[in-house]
Amino acid sequence: VRELVYYVATSIDGYIAGPDGQFDAFPVVGDHMEVIVTEFADALPAPAAAALGAPQSGSLFDTVLMGWNTYNVGASQGLVDPYPHLRQYVFSRSVRDVPYGIVATDRDPVELVRKLKIDEGSAIWLCGGGSLAAALVEEIDRLIVKVNPVLFGTGIPLFDGLDYLPRNFGLTRSRTFESGVTIAEYSASSS
Ligand SMILES: NC(=O)c1ccc[n+]([C@@H]2O[C@H](COP(=O)([O-])OP(=O)(O)OC[C@H]3O[C@@H](n4cnc5c(N)ncnc54)[C@H](OP(=O)(O)O)[C@@H]3O)[C@@H](O)[C@H]2O)c1
Repeated sequence: VRELVYYVATSIDGYIAGPDGQFDAFPVVGDHMEVIVTEFADALPAPAAAALGAPQSGSLFDTVLMGWNTYNVGASQGLVDPYPHLRQYVFSRSVRDVPYGIVATDRDPVELVRKLKIDEGSAIWLCGGGSLAAALVEEIDRLIVKVNPVLFGTGIPLFDGLDYLPRNFGLTRSRTFESGVTIAEYSASSS
């Protein structure tokens, strides 16, 4: 069974974007970038990967799941096919016009993820945002959080709209960088 991996960047206080979607406060230079560009190249938008000369093999992720708001950040700027090397699913309860090759769906994310997990292949990347992540919280097998050394104060949270309910995760790896970024990897506890 394939894993669902929520790989995401946050502020110190757990926001993945500002209240109006701002994301320019996350540092894009520094020693953490080598890991992001090499190890996690599958999760770079194609134009960024091309500009950086980062090959995208699909060996880490071969499928990406996005909420409409996340997809639309790029699409509204003309980036309508951000991850052509991946199977791309965009969740929306409205009818959405997306290019050939991208699946826009109003299916229950949990039901779809359970089906996708049975398929052969590499991991499924939950790109975000906070709303879709909340819907899929019980399906997440691994959580990879890039914590940036910046405090937002408010914004769009890592999981948007969950009630208080502690869920245990096991820390499997943690890396710190001179840039102040940490990349922490967690596995969902089986308990
Ligand atoms: N820091 C990072 O690494 C990172 C990663 C990803 C995203 N982000 C940021 O996160 C922000 C977007 O997050 P968000 O929480 O506002 O939105 P989101 O989760 O990206 O999208 C929410 C939308 O997805 C659809 N959706 C969500 N749950 C659904 C469900 N259960 N069934 C069907 N459709 C569902 C709905 O679309 P409809 O309204 O069309 O029905 C909903 O309005 C953006 O600013 C983006 O830049 C940051």
